[in-house]
Amino acid sequence: MDISRIMQVLNVAELAAIAAADWNGRGDKRAADKAATEAMRNAFNEIDFSGRIVIGEGERDEAPMLYIGEEVGRGGEEIDIAVDPLEGTNLCAYNRANALTTIAIAPKGSLLFAPDTYMHKIAAGPACRGLVHIDASPEANVRAVATALDKPISEVNVCILLRDRHADLIKAVRATGARIRLIDDGDVFGAIATAVPGTGIDLYLGSGGAPEGVLAAAGLKAIGGIFMGKLGFELDSHGAEKRARAELTAGIDLDAPLTMDMLIRSDETAFIACGVTDGEMLDGVRIDDGSCTTSSIIMNSADKTVRFVKTVRRSDGGTIHF
Ligand code: FBP
Repeated sequence: MDISRIMQVLNVAELAAIAAADWNGRGDKRAADKAATEAMRNAFNEIDFSGRIVIGEGERDEAPMLYIGEEVGRGGEEIDIAVDPLEGTNLCAYNRANALTTIAIAPKGSLLFAPDTYMHKIAAGPACRGLVHIDASPEANVRAVATALDKPISEVNVCILLRDRHADLIKAVRATGARIRLIDDGDVFGAIATAVPGTGIDLYLGSGGAPEGVLAAAGLKAIGGIFMGKLGFELDSHGAEKRARAELTAGIDLDAPLTMDMLIRSDETAFIACGVTDGEMLDGVRIDDGSCTTSSIIMNSADKTVRFVKTVRRSDGGTIHF
């Protein structure tokens, strides 16, 4: 993706993070999500492109903005967009680590319209490509990561969402001797972090939202990491109904492992996330003496780079403080 387009989208993620951060620790996840979504939509509508929301806040009748199928932008290059305007609404509401605003972009027609259900996921950094698999056992995957990263299993760190449905998975990973980083929410962070040195996360395992899976897949595909998913309708209380609809619309084998190339059908993609609350990968939004500082990550397939961007804004024209 062209770097000037990416900078425009980065600006969208930053403005959404600033809007959401107003709600950090205020216990109101809906208000935080609404603020991020509104800011994101307004900022997208300032861009000279024809953006189509493929992964968004839900379907038109349930989401007032950034709904699936919504067109954003002033017209121009046709682009598919996946968003989670506030990934980890509870993390923001309760001021816990790693609430992010997240966006993935790719040429029109290349992002999978993933059904709004669960997805079983595995993610790891570039060194593990071709060595881990969604259908392999947790033991086999942990061993493969230890070998790829040339460290003992006891030093492999596996990120897993803390959910009752993961009890057996957690047991199986513990039995290998690996360490586990349990997170309350935010599996886009968990998956992306596997490719970001310094986060201490080597492998992501477990089930979370399928839309979040597309976002994580874009980031990992952009930089040569690995992500695989499998839809998990059986975990969803409306799974049967959603499966029946997906059979008509998704255009994929709903039981097959979903590779990065099935989720993102282009080699041209970028993933952008901006920190709302502080975390291992990104700092949250900081307001300091009139300056507002945001920290973001960009994964871009064009040059296979991971960029960390710190942006300082000042609305009153005063001095910018670093
Ligand atoms: P929200 O941002 O919508 O609150 O989602 C947070 C999240 O933890 C995602 O990161 C994850 O994919 C999903 O929820 C897991 O769903 P569930 O809470 O139903 O296990």
